[in-house]
Amino acid sequence: MSAVVSVLSTRLSNAAATAFGTPLDPELRSATKPEFGHFQSNLALRLANQLGTPPRAVAARLVEALDVDDLCEPPTIAGPGFVNLTLRSSTLAATVNERTPFAPRDETVVVDYSQPNVAKQMHVGHLRSTVIGDALCNVLAYVGYRVVRQNHVGDWGTQYGMMIEQLLEEQLNADSLDLQGLQELYERSRRHFDSDPAFADLSRLRVVKLQSGDPDTRASWRRMVEVSLADFEQVYARLGSGLQRADVVGESAYNDDLAKIVAELLDADLLTESDGALCAFLPGFHGRDGQPLPVIVQKSDGGFGYSATDLAAIRHRVGSLKADRIVYVVDHRQALHFEMIFTLAQAAGWLPPDTSAEHVSFGTVLGPGGKPFKTRAGGTVKLTTLLDEAVERADALLADRTGIDRSATATAVGIGAVKYADLSSDRGNDYVFDLDRMVAMTGNTGPYLQYAHARLTRLLTKAGEASTTVTVLDHPVEQRLALLLTGFADTVVQVSETLQPHRLCTYLYDVAAALSAFYEQCPVLTSAGATRTSRIALCTATRQVLQDGLGLLGIAAPDAM
Ligand code: ARG
Repeated sequence: MSAVVSVLSTRLSNAAATAFGTPLDPELRSATKPEFGHFQSNLALRLANQLGTPPRAVAARLVEALDVDDLCEPPTIAGPGFVNLTLRSSTLAATVNERTPFAPRDETVVVDYSQPNVAKQMHVGHLRSTVIGDALCNVLAYVGYRVVRQNHVGDWGTQYGMMIEQLLEEQLNADSLDLQGLQELYERSRRHFDSDPAFADLSRLRVVKLQSGDPDTRASWRRMVEVSLADFEQVYARLGSGLQRADVVGESAYNDDLAKIVAELLDADLLTESDGALCAFLPGFHGRDGQPLPVIVQKSDGGFGYSATDLAAIRHRVGSLKADRIVYVVDHRQALHFEMIFTLAQAAGWLPPDTSAEHVSFGTVLGPGGKPFKTRAGGTVKLTTLLDEAVERADALLADRTGIDRSATATAVGIGAVKYADLSSDRGNDYVFDLDRMVAMTGNTGPYLQYAHARLTRLLTKAGEASTTVTVLDHPVEQRLALLLTGFADTVVQVSETLQPHRLCTYLYDVAAALSAFYEQCPVLTSAGATRTSRIALCTATRQVLQDGLGLLGIAAPDAM
């Protein structure tokens, strides 16, 4: 909360204590309309309920007891009994200028995101996880958390048995393949496995060798992982993702813990044998048919699966990484999986009550016409192809610009457009991947915000005067812009709590829109004296908010475009 908002909250709460002996939280909100002033509280309405007194009368007594003259214009009462507050323009000016960084919170948040699978191209689902995950890491770090990134790469499983067997049979070395080649190898090995029982047997033996650490088998597997990670890293570099090699803690990393997971669950009496598999049946989890739903921890063939690995990951994150909060950025289809895993981990004592685990679920990226996103041939659309297209569109957009680094700017705008489109829609919803809309220079888009930032940069360069102290706020649109700027920190805190990056996008869009209105009605360069200096400071503060906001979203803010 910005300092002035917390002061006002305390004053209102004190007023409630003086007038009624009940110091309630005033839940101060931004006013919904400019004519309601700057902030609004429904405290009187809530108190009226408790006291059985008409709300407007309660509001009148509250306002009488309220002492905010030093900060606000006289408070007003609106509608059924809202208390409206309007900051004095001198208070507002001082608030724009204040900027206190967040103190470190001595809390660790582990963010599990991106998570592509070895030997498969990254698809748009991985794009969402990567883009949302990066933004959340930035935001969480900004508000003071210690952030630990964990890229839970899908690098383990029975399919590597058949892939290695296929490699051997074709006398290939995994190094000679690229990611596309690996994906094709996987498809060949799958067909072979399904049609040739002898090959299937060899593949199963190969899995055992892989899991028990046979050096040659491990070396082949390592090479496949390596080829894949190198490819993913190219995508991360293009996206400007903060993910590093050191953040990769794939499924394979938990292999040695899986037997312990089973042993501890058995000790805690949480496992039941069902058709030869070891399962946990948790109260409250039923299928559509009413049958209890199991978490399959160990399969009947002795192998461990996805769930066992996720349990081991929680145990590691709490036990070794000392997580206070664990965040999983994974599509909505895995909601039930995570609910069950969290419940089981709590029952097993791996996830203590004061450690939160949150599934940051997101919807599907759809193709044209809201259909599933596929190539014409029915395959998955490669992420790199989409990014290439976005950069091309951005480049076309910049065709008539001079004096800019065209290729660098096109990259910043094209990639920024794709990322912003992803982040700006409520993550729970599906969205249509529509490049025309993404690169549009108007509306709630990345290029619109980047342009607002670049235009401010140009204006400030022209101004020939640097100023960072807002002193005059006479015009209502000037006040509106200033007021919005003071909400930056609150917005970032909200994102860190709700894990919804679109709130920051909406906020930045509001800032850019308020900036447009300000340009129209408040000349900057042609004004004079204290007004000019103050407006330059307001522009400087706006530019800073846009730059910081885009930075948190992981979107470049070029100085010219
Ligand atoms: N690799 C998985 C996939 O592509 C997502 C992994 C999500 N993270 C986790 N801890 N299970 O579907």
